[in-house]
Amino acid sequence: MVMKWTRAFAPPAFGSVRGLRVLLGAALALLVATGAPAQTAATFIGEKACIDCHGQENRHFTDTVHAKAFRANPRNDRERQVCESCHGPGSLHAKKTADRTLIISFTKKWGTPLAQQNEACHSCHQGGNRLHWPGSVHAGQQLGCADCHNPMARVSFTGSLAKPTINETCMTCHPQQRNEFSKRSHMPLLEGKMSCVDCHNPHGSATKPLLKAESVNTVCTSCHAEKRGPLLWEHAPVRESCMNCHSPHGSNHDKLLVSARPQLCQQCHSPSVGHPGQFFRADQTAAAALVGGVPSQRTIGRSCQNCHSMIHGSNHPAGARLQR
Ligand code: HEC
Ligand code: HEC
Ligand code: HEC
Ligand code: HEC
Ligand code: HEC
Ligand code: HEC
Ligand code: HEC
Ligand code: HEC
Ligand code: HEC
Ligand code: HEC
Repeated sequence: MVMKWTRAFAPPAFGSVRGLRVLLGAALALLVATGAPAQTAATFIGEKACIDCHGQENRHFTDTVHAKAFRANPRNDRERQVCESCHGPGSLHAKKTADRTLIISFTKKWGTPLAQQNEACHSCHQGGNRLHWPGSVHAGQQLGCADCHNPMARVSFTGSLAKPTINETCMTCHPQQRNEFSKRSHMPLLEGKMSCVDCHNPHGSATKPLLKAESVNTVCTSCHAEKRGPLLWEHAPVRESCMNCHSPHGSNHDKLLVSARPQLCQQCHSPSVGHPGQFFRADQTAAAALVGGVPSQRTIGRSCQNCHSMIHGSNHPAGARLQR
């Protein structure tokens, strides 16, 4: 079915006041102009016309969330246009298929400007999780919605993603993080128990680096609630940020720690913190033991935590030194 009205090629969002004004302007310009429609104005030709030439693409598209929503249960005229709700009106493209300026495409080779591509998606998906997309790291790095999403085929179970899972989608560009999740101690991500979006919002966030909540600790304690407190005796670095001692993705030290104990503690607490006397001598370290020394019990196992076991804070009335 041919839409009765025309519009300038790829105008701003439907529904916005600006969009409406552009639309009215374009219609007016056409009424004033005598003869054939202006060269730059394309009209909607309906999905049947597209499918005539793009049958293969349509076969894959039919299984997707968008196809089902737009065909079975369209909420407005925009959604009823199916293909053209994303690709823009296609009358000119159907006549001159080689001209790459005549249809919005989301592939790299076609060359539609990125802003125009993203606007096509944004016009229906603004706000919500995407509130901080403008100015986000990913937007600044010239990512398009189509770098992570492929609405043309049902590749993933949820989210219309470009890869079968969220993690694979992210790891195509973040191989370093893939390595981190393979370290000896790691969050159970590759095991399928969580995904990058449990902690990050890839669409942008007010908290660096793209964190889902307002601080590192809120992210972590959303699952590790017992570390949130309130506690009678807090350990200052825990309250400040879990990252003082843990790496977020993985580590070759125990329990995702950023370094081995006792060094971890000694970064902040020098050996003379107030323990009576010498805490341990150089020849009592685990390393010195390899060349004949006798390791101090205080440096092996959980080291400082052999005594200060409540490292995240204590609720015991006598737990001020985090011992109980
Ligand atoms: C007369 C046949 C014909 C019709 C009708 C037609 N197309 Fe095309 N389309 C083509 C051809 C041919 C190409 C160019 C393919 C190429 O050069 O890779 C193309 C390219 C495209 C591309 C860019 C593909 C890419 O590789 O990035 C998109 C998107 C597209 N068409 C969408 C549509 C939509 C949406 C409609 C309906 C409004 C439509 N087409 C109608 C024949 C047609
Ligand atoms: C929800 C938005 C949306 C809808 C609806 C949609 N497309 Fe697409 N289309 C895309 C995106 C995004 C891509 C780029 C996919 C990629 O990265 O390969 C694309 C790619 C294409 C291509 C390029 C070849 C390819 O498969 O990568 C063609 C041709 C195409 N679409 C035609 C159509 C036709 C025909 C319809 C209707 C039956 C349609 N599209 C519906 C968003 C959409
Ligand atoms: C005309 C409006 C419209 C446009 C344009 C549009 N979408 Fe959607 N999108 C929808 C609707 C409707 C749904 C179904 C779910 C819902 O009700 O929100 C949806 C769902 C989604 C989902 C969730 C899918 C799932 O499996 O849960 C993603 C991701 C998405 N769209 C991405 C995109 C991307 C990327 C583009 C641009 C290429 C795009 N959309 C363009 C209307 C639109
Ligand atoms: C860096 C990768 C990435 C980019 C870029 C990206 N997304 Fe997403 N998007 C995701 C992931 C991952 C999900 C979560 C999927 C799930 O939960 O299954 C998602 C979910 C969604 C959803 C459904 C859930 C929700 O948040 O409402 C929509 C709609 C969506 N994205 C739209 C967009 C649009 C529009 C753009 C472009 C402005 C975009 N996305 C860019 C990765 C991305
Ligand atoms: C198409 C490539 C691409 C994909 C896919 C991608 N990213 Fe990114 N991401 C980048 C680039 C480029 C940067 C900026 C450079 C950097 O920090 O590596 C970045 C940066 C980041 C940052 C750091 C932000 C900051 O403030 O420093 C996080 C976190 C991130 N991405 C998470 C994700 C998540 C989660 C996903 C999957 C949903 C994802 N990325 C998918 C390309 C991508
Ligand atoms: C358990 C929560 C969590 C998960 C899951 C997670 N991240 Fe992170 N990520 C963080 C935190 C917290 C930071 C900030 C670290 C800091 O501030 O030093 C971060 C930092 C980053 C950075 C910035 C550079 C860096 O390494 O510090 C990138 C890029 C990144 N994450 C990508 C990813 C990707 C890709 C995935 C999925 C494969 C992922 N993250 C999964 C919590 C997580
Ligand atoms: C989505 C939920 C979730 C979030 C968010 C989360 N974790 Fe975890 N964490 C887990 C699960 C599940 C395990 C594995 C527990 C197990 O195997 O018994 C785990 C394990 C751990 C471990 C123990 C690892 C080991 O080797 O035994 C540490 C330490 C940890 N998380 C710290 C953090 C930190 C720091 C953050 C914030 C950056 C965080 N977690 C965010 C779910 C989460
Ligand atoms: C001062 C350093 C330090 C800070 C800061 C810290 N942790 Fe830990 N965390 C440790 C140490 C050391 C262990 C190993 C405990 C053991 O071996 O029994 C550990 C173990 C864990 C474990 C696994 C064992 C358990 O107790 O459940 C989780 C989960 C965990 N931390 C979460 C967090 C969260 C969440 C935060 C931020 C709120 C945080 N940690 C901040 C030092 C720290
Ligand atoms: C990032 C720095 C940092 C790290 C790492 C750190 N701490 Fe602390 N710790 C502090 C600060 C700051 C205080 C509060 C000191 C104060 O209130 O005077 C503190 C307090 C303590 C206290 C209570 C002492 C008191 O005077 O109240 C003990 C015990 C303690 N830490 C043990 C440890 C142990 C054991 C480790 C290693 C698992 C560790 N800390 C790692 C910074 C750190
Ligand atoms: C053998 C048990 C034991 C081990 C191991 C141990 N501590 Fe202690 N630590 C104590 C006791 C007991 C106190 C309390 C002294 C007091 O109340 O006056 C204490 C007090 C502290 C204090 C508070 C000092 C002050 O001035 O109030 C800090 C900080 C501390 N330890 C850090 C560490 C660090 C760091 C390590 C590892 C390098 C460690 N401890 C290993 C038993 C131990």
